[in-house]
Amino acid sequence: CAGVAAGLAEGRVMPETGLSQGLTNYGDREFSLYLRRVFAKSMGYSDEMLAKPIVGIATSGGDFNNCHRTTPELVKAVSRGVLAAGGLPMEFPTISLGEPYLTPTSLVFRNLMAMDVEEMIRAQPMDAVVLIGGCDKTLPAQLMGAISAGKPALALVVGPMMTGSFEGNRLGACTDCRSWWARYRAGELDDARIRALESNLATTAGTCAVMGTASTMACVTEALGMSLPGSATPPAVHAERLRFAEASGARAVEMARDGLTPERIVTRESVDNALRVLFALGGSTNGAIHLTAIAGRAGVPLTLEHFNAIAAATPVLVNLKPVGAHYMEQFHAAGGVGALLRELAPLLHRQTVSAAGETLATRLARVPAYVDRDVIRPADDPIVARDALVALFGNLAPNGAILKAAAADARLLEHEGRAVVFRDLADLAARIDDPALDVEPDDVLVLQNAGAIAAGMPEAGYLPIPKKLLSRGVRDMLRISDARMSGTAYGAVVLHISPESGVGGPLAAVRDGDRIRVSLRERRIDVALSDEEIAHRLAAVPRAPLASRGYRKLYAEHVLGPERGCDFDFLVPSASPASPTSSA
Ligand code: FES
Ligand code: MG
Repeated sequence: CAGVAAGLAEGRVMPETGLSQGLTNYGDREFSLYLRRVFAKSMGYSDEMLAKPIVGIATSGGDFNNCHRTTPELVKAVSRGVLAAGGLPMEFPTISLGEPYLTPTSLVFRNLMAMDVEEMIRAQPMDAVVLIGGCDKTLPAQLMGAISAGKPALALVVGPMMTGSFEGNRLGACTDCRSWWARYRAGELDDARIRALESNLATTAGTCAVMGTASTMACVTEALGMSLPGSATPPAVHAERLRFAEASGARAVEMARDGLTPERIVTRESVDNALRVLFALGGSTNGAIHLTAIAGRAGVPLTLEHFNAIAAATPVLVNLKPVGAHYMEQFHAAGGVGALLRELAPLLHRQTVSAAGETLATRLARVPAYVDRDVIRPADDPIVARDALVALFGNLAPNGAILKAAAADARLLEHEGRAVVFRDLADLAARIDDPALDVEPDDVLVLQNAGAIAAGMPEAGYLPIPKKLLSRGVRDMLRISDARMSGTAYGAVVLHISPESGVGGPLAAVRDGDRIRVSLRERRIDVALSDEEIAHRLAAVPRAPLASRGYRKLYAEHVLGPERGCDFDFLVPSASPASPTSSA
């Protein structure tokens, strides 16, 4: 970079770097650049600084995002790295998605954030970008946007929370939030104790402490190559995280100079590596949606059939909640993603290139020998041999459904039972604990109208066990819906049924008493009804009302099914054919 100011003085045409990117806004390019310098100088930048490669730092903090509260400290460290490597750091905000605070769901806004990130990376003059995110939907949104923007980019996650404790029990959000809430519902805890517990479940900055969606996506992103090796797992409050922030800033400057864009990192091979890691982690079902969307942006279609093929040949090795016993701080101490990749090495494509500019093979040669076998199991002694997450198909889910087989009571994975149907979330809330509800432990709980278009696909697929059965000691039941489930949840739960029931999917035809059969072995989910009977019943079911304006209207009209990552049809490159759920 010869320097924007010097080049301009000599009247040369400048390359599209630094402040000189774009420059169409006033017609006259030199006037446009001059104005940019005028206003950049109002912030005190010298000509020398303005001549350096610009590294944007995309932040997504805010008081509605508990997970991201270390963002200012991370920005400082990233900036330090950028400056030391000869670049100019420029922080810019995008919208933030704090998981617990968004109505109707955070997933609805993931695509909005992805559009914000993409357009701001493209619109503003930056040569590379560091994406600071972590809470469930933020990192997928940032990757989707950055891949589409096409400039050199790498992610820096905020890192996981540390655990807390209560009456001698180790606690981490949010698997323990759920297990203790179930005990409270069953009457094992009184009001005072559940309130005391509440202050000890999430005790530091950072993302949820188990292998929920945030941790899953942090690890999947590292495996994909879109963040620095080793950076997924250090806790949010660990000094190592700040060193990764510094290194990410420095590396972004080199990526700008080398022109290392996401299309060279996110390939069919790296996506398969990321899928292996998703399964070996026993990762979140949401990871299936997000990885599909991220890969889709790079023009790498991910089908559920391919998903099943990889799952069938990948062992679950990481012993973290909700599938296993431990928390992210143990996973980090045990060797993190590097140690896991080493266990999976024979299954991986080792010539993929990461944001670090090296191949996976080069990285693997550096992974320290230490590994804690209680946390990261060897491939020949897995926690579960295969099929961490499985796609099911059948007359209830022609486009597929997802089951987290690794986190379910195996007895319920070859099961037939009587349907107990809730027509939507309000109906579920009103009746699930009704003492008069006709429900037995072998029944199948069915939730309708909870898909992306009808309800924003809430994490309500983990239907509560009815109180009357809880008090009889029932802790798991077969539950099916077109909703999602938190990555921190567990149980015999079939999710993401597609097409969704609100827009004509066959799940809408199910009535109380129908026989539903799920078979993990056969990858099937069916209701014992003829095609004619399903069609006849569906003709009488009203469609979910659609939003009439604004972003929610755009969402309803363009969101793809979960098997397509719930991206918008118009954001997926045309190489990857689109088929909106609404026309399914
Ligand atoms: Fe942000 Fe769980 S609330 S990751
Ligand atoms: Mg979550």
